[in-house]
Amino acid sequence: MQTFEQLLECIEQEIASLQFDCPPKSLYDPITYTLALGGKRIRPALTLMACNLYHPDITRAIRPAIGLEVFHNFTLLHDDLMDAADVRRNQPTVHKKWNANAAILSGDAMLIVAYQLIGETHPELLKPVLDLFTQTALEICSGQQYDMEFESRLDVTEAEYMEMIRLKTAVLLACALKMGALLGGAPAADAERLYAFGIHIGLAFQLQDDLLDVYGDPRTFGKQIGGDILCNKKTFLLINALRLANPAQRAELMGWIARKDFDPQEKIQAVTHIYNVLDLKAVTEARIEALYEQANENLRALSVTEAQTAILKNVCDKLMHRQV
Ligand code: IPE
Ligand code: IPE
Ligand code: MG
Ligand code: MG
Ligand code: MG
Repeated sequence: MQTFEQLLECIEQEIASLQFDCPPKSLYDPITYTLALGGKRIRPALTLMACNLYHPDITRAIRPAIGLEVFHNFTLLHDDLMDAADVRRNQPTVHKKWNANAAILSGDAMLIVAYQLIGETHPELLKPVLDLFTQTALEICSGQQYDMEFESRLDVTEAEYMEMIRLKTAVLLACALKMGALLGGAPAADAERLYAFGIHIGLAFQLQDDLLDVYGDPRTFGKQIGGDILCNKKTFLLINALRLANPAQRAELMGWIARKDFDPQEKIQAVTHIYNVLDLKAVTEARIEALYEQANENLRALSVTEAQTAILKNVCDKLMHRQV
């Protein structure tokens, strides 16, 4: 079995080997730029770890795994445009460095490249792998649409929020794990359990992302702190703040949400202050822990030994407490 470090190295090498040097440069430069900025590479790592649980040779999973990372990066180009986010991985986002059309079209090209890479799957497994990926990609579009619609709603429930983040974030982590399982020849029951594990860690992952958007260290997190507050994103924190606030706090929150003209730092500070008073960091962390506990039940039910899942478990332990 390969160590996590070995898998990451393999991922980096494979990404570096992708050559986008055909014209027009302006289409491919943003792709090279985005992929070179790194990131955690968690999705391809999940694919390779899942594959490696069932097969000693992960070669068969590398190109599809990289396809998922290219796909993830495509979603970020469009997401940053939709969220009006100027910074990612501590660098200007593509629509800032180039323009909105570049983010749209280079993003589209990345989606197509992702299909090319996943299409390199062994013909025997191509149909289930492509079906899984296509369904996941469509679900992510649904999640992103809900995410945008929720910005202008005040009555979003926690259940609606959980479904939205299942779609926009969790299904891709789940897909990465299940794809690895399929490519490694796992029993069908294990592939489903890994998918369920991925959904739960994916939900926890997005809660942590919501938390870091408020409480992260900007130098390590690499994104603008308070970005979600500025666009009235219905995050786990805001939904719970609206639920737990007393009438005065609620009125203040509603005031900030309705205001069109404001000083960004002032709004971030005021809303963060309400989150602090309501202790929403602890509320969110408790939910992350609960989701992770549920996730691990699926890991324990796999047909492989606990020793075999140790690498995956260890990586996910760290992911749940990530600061980046
Ligand atoms: C960011 O994903 C988008 C979310 C689903 C929160 P990551 O946090 O995995 O971003 P990178 O790839 O490591 O930069
Ligand atoms: C990301 O959600 C989900 C997708 C990119 C599909 P966010 O909008 O919270 O991700 P970040 O915070 O910009 O990375
Ligand atoms: Mg975003
Ligand atoms: Mg978004
Ligand atoms: Mg976010």
